[in-house]
Amino acid sequence: MKIAVGSDHAGFELKEHIKGILPAGEYDVTDVGTHSPESVDYPDFGLEVARRVAAGEADRGILICGTGIGMSIAANKVRGIRAALVCDLYTAAQSRRHNDANVLVLAGRVTGKGLAEEIVKTWLSTEFEGGRHLGRLKKIEAFEKNTDR
Ligand code: RB5
Repeated sequence: MKIAVGSDHAGFELKEHIKGILPAGEYDVTDVGTHSPESVDYPDFGLEVARRVAAGEADRGILICGTGIGMSIAANKVRGIRAALVCDLYTAAQSRRHNDANVLVLAGRVTGKGLAEEIVKTWLSTEFEGGRHLGRLKKIEAFEKNTDR
């Protein structure tokens, strides 16, 4: 599975940690930055990861900023992106089962490394259930296609 990861300065440390738990044999990880704790703007990295996922250059994306809110707002502006801000294991699983989330957003200033690891593992290993949930996603997709936003 190809995964694009990105963060701002507030998510940098957690991004580095999360990369370390994604085994190279199983995941092909591309880090779009940021590459240091120097202050940067989260949209530069959130939009790039989202663009890659929407274009099919990556299967999934993982984004991290301080609260996860800015990255969520940015990523969800990109057509075809279903970015889920997740702070617990239940929503990690549900964001896959019910929402087919293709981008996971973590909060580097809220969620500790241990919980973040479990969230990532759960999110990557949980399948979309389809069925009635697919119909709901199709409504969002139709809105995206028929609007000039
Ligand atoms: C950076 O200070 C902070 O605003 C950013 O990481 C994020 O939390 C924005 O939503």
